[in-house]
Amino acid sequence: MRLLVAGGAGFIGSTYVHRHLEENPTDEIVVLDKLTYAGRRENLEGVDAARLSLVEADIADATAVRDAIAGCDAVVNFAAESHVDRSITDPGAFIQTDVFGTYVLLEAARDAGIRHLQISTDEVYGSIEEGTFTERSPLDPSSPYSASKAGGDLIVSAFHHTYGTDALITRASNNFGPRQHPEKLIPLTILNALAGDEIPVYGDGMQVRNWLYAEDFAAAIDVVLERGEAGQVYNVGGPDEKPNIEVVKRILELTGRDESLITYVTDRLGHDRRYSLSAERTESLGWKAAVGFDEGIERTVAWYRDNEAWWGPIRSGEYREYYERQYGRKLGS
Ligand code: NAD
Ligand code: TYD
Repeated sequence: MRLLVAGGAGFIGSTYVHRHLEENPTDEIVVLDKLTYAGRRENLEGVDAARLSLVEADIADATAVRDAIAGCDAVVNFAAESHVDRSITDPGAFIQTDVFGTYVLLEAARDAGIRHLQISTDEVYGSIEEGTFTERSPLDPSSPYSASKAGGDLIVSAFHHTYGTDALITRASNNFGPRQHPEKLIPLTILNALAGDEIPVYGDGMQVRNWLYAEDFAAAIDVVLERGEAGQVYNVGGPDEKPNIEVVKRILELTGRDESLITYVTDRLGHDRRYSLSAERTESLGWKAAVGFDEGIERTVAWYRDNEAWWGPIRSGEYREYYERQYGRKLGS
């Protein structure tokens, strides 16, 4: 197989590329990635270079996409603007990439007559106080990020329904693991804890997220790509739900810091209280999560501790300006 992996230089995309090439020694991957602030060539270091090519391009660029898709057997689309906080300050980029970009990629997959697997999120279902979302739950996105992802999903379903395009969707819960950009809760907390900096916790810190180790999600994606039915949605919920404050406290323990670093700050606008997702349908295809939160967070903290060469340049670049804008007035230091 030769796969076109859009957004393969980001956090989950690169986790997928590493795993897929290791598990499938004769497969080749073309990564198409715009290399935004979240996409990095470094994320693909260590993979078999003879079986990987990287095309630096936008998924909304129809010509670049058509050239890259030539000779590919399937598309996996990770490319997205992916951070809720940034979607609150700059929603336009999300609509351009997550909705319009998805359409351009899908059109190319349809023309090529190949499978398009859309990587989506549980956030399209909105917040759930009690119980667990299934694939039959209605879409009720609340942030510009989740609304743009829901828009992408609806285009994917419509292409299958209207043209018979071989397209399907995975919706996963919150991922964590190595190489996640430090704008997200877990890496931000780890890096601030290692540096002895304050840790910003939104609101009361009792929002609940359903944590999935990114390696496990990468394995689920291949199971769905291979065995999933066109037109279907496959939810991939992680094995453990945790309130944010518990996640933060566990990271403080693992980094040997005390809880005085925790700083409660103004809540995120429109903050979803809880996500909870069943993985039953994906499990029925033969997948099961292997890494629980406890093991995953230990591995993740160890990875960041050992890989300052990866995160050092991020902490001093564009991220610094973002951090100032996002937290400057909320934090003392
Ligand atoms: P990420 O921000 O780390 O990576 C996104 C990648 O897409 C980057 O490499 C970036 O350069 C690339 N990209 C952005 N805009 C592009 C464009 N216009 N054209 C080409 N490439 C572009 O995100 P992630 O956390 O790895 O998430 C990957 C996918 O998984 C996203 O679609 C996201 O919605 C979905 N998802 C993420 C999570 C999570 O917890 N992180 C959970 C469920 C689903
Ligand atoms: P995040 O990692 O941004 O993922 P998502 O919003 O997609 O779930 O945030 C995870 C949770 O952590 C969410 O409830 C918001 C909260 N959070 C904080 O409390 N402080 C922070 O600095 C960040 C980035 C997130």
